[in-house]
Amino acid sequence: MFIKTDGPHGLPRNPFLSCIVPRPIGWVSSLSADGVFNLAPYSFFNGVANAPPMVMFASNGRQPHGPKDSVTNIEATGEFVCNLVSEELGEQMNATSASVSSDTDEFDLAGLETEPSELVKPPRVKASPIHLECTFHGTMELPSNDPEARNVICVGRVIGIHIRDEVLKDGIIDIESIRPLARLGYRDYTVIEKAYPMTRPK
Ligand SMILES: Cc1cc2nc3c(=O)[nH]c(=O)nc-3n(C[C@H](O)[C@H](O)[C@H](O)COP(=O)(O)O)c2cc1C
Repeated sequence: MFIKTDGPHGLPRNPFLSCIVPRPIGWVSSLSADGVFNLAPYSFFNGVANAPPMVMFASNGRQPHGPKDSVTNIEATGEFVCNLVSEELGEQMNATSASVSSDTDEFDLAGLETEPSELVKPPRVKASPIHLECTFHGTMELPSNDPEARNVICVGRVIGIHIRDEVLKDGIIDIESIRPLARLGYRDYTVIEKAYPMTRPK
């Protein structure tokens, strides 16, 4: 079948996000201008440059109380952390996606311990095996079908990387031991449990 995206798709659910899989989950911690800890998962998330290392996540739509807090906080304070979600953290990651008011500490909400960052003020998720400390580079506005909502790409420069010692084997990140969670379409997730190498042609 072919779907033209400005018309009805005729399927029980919109298939778009099932066509881009698996998507890594950036579990973004930030600090509000008033100092409230914020934590939320974003699967429109990726690394977008290596030297210097840069990441992006895209915030879509709005909360019942207004714009999503992560981008608001990052634009106000200029810093954030991307925490990796391993399989065992799935339920707590999901809990932090609740639409709660901006004065709610989502570490508390999900029963997660914080750990101070080295170079930025937002804390890290202690239970997460990898953290990327980021400074805010900029936002890019995207079109939105809902005039009340903001769709935006938020780009950050990674200025520090924490890797838990146990997941480093001979200096290489043992991804199979981390079992990162990734997002599929609909309500589905997958776990990365197998990695294999492929050499690029010269
Ligand atoms: C696995 C997962 C991935 C998500 N990815 C996104 C995303 O890429 N963009 C987005 O706007 N919302 C995404 N959400 C929803 C946000 O996490 C949710 O709206 C959250 O309340 C935003 O929190 P904030 O207002 O503290 O930023 C995702 C939710 C889950 C569970």
